[in-house]
Amino acid sequence: MKILNIYSSLNGNTKKIAQEIEKACKDNGYNTDSVNISESPDIIDLLSYDLCFMGSGIYTWLPGKKMMKWIESQLEDARVKGLILPGSPRVPGKFVCVYATFGGPHTGKAEAVPGVKYMGQLFDHMGITIADEWYIPGEFFPANKKQLNIQGRLGNIEGRPNAHDLKTVYEKTAGLLLSLKNTIK
Ligand SMILES: Cc1cc2nc3c(=O)[nH]c(=O)nc-3n(C[C@H](O)[C@H](O)[C@H](O)COP(=O)(O)O)c2cc1C
Repeated sequence: MKILNIYSSLNGNTKKIAQEIEKACKDNGYNTDSVNISESPDIIDLLSYDLCFMGSGIYTWLPGKKMMKWIESQLEDARVKGLILPGSPRVPGKFVCVYATFGGPHTGKAEAVPGVKYMGQLFDHMGITIADEWYIPGEFFPANKKQLNIQGRLGNIEGRPNAHDLKTVYEKTAGLLLSLKNTIK
């Protein structure tokens, strides 16, 4: 199973999740190509992978600017290559798991949903099936936003993602690999 692990992370929260995914894949016998889109925004041949993990922090309901820009160039590339077809026919054995880390200070999970859905659509349009979506609390770092870590809709999110969040990601990654094992060559 060929696995791509792409993410964008401004303050490191999403990077922690991506590293945990990489660890879980490795412990289950799979190598990953891990790419921080913020540092390496090159075009990737997404269909050359069987399973992709894709994650970003949420900034005003959407992924960060660098991730948005990368999605735009990937979509353009897919269009030029004729990979966006009416009905988006499923490409057998190709899956993606999309996730966000988010603070949810105003409306909770609702403000991360558009970002996760947005990222997923790149893959869905190419016929890559969305296998799962994960939402993981991630604390705010800027000093002027620290009060959002205790006064927001998710309650106290100081220190998130914490060890329990990472363990959950580890276990869910293992579960996903197991569920797709027989579908993917
Ligand atoms: C400038 C700024 C704007 C943010 N806007 C939102 C937002 O609109 N909704 C939300 O749920 N979280 C928001 N957050 C919280 C981040 O999504 C959260 O801390 C996330 O874990 C950051 O991930 P990263 O460090 O990997 O980029 C914002 C954080 C910052 C610093």
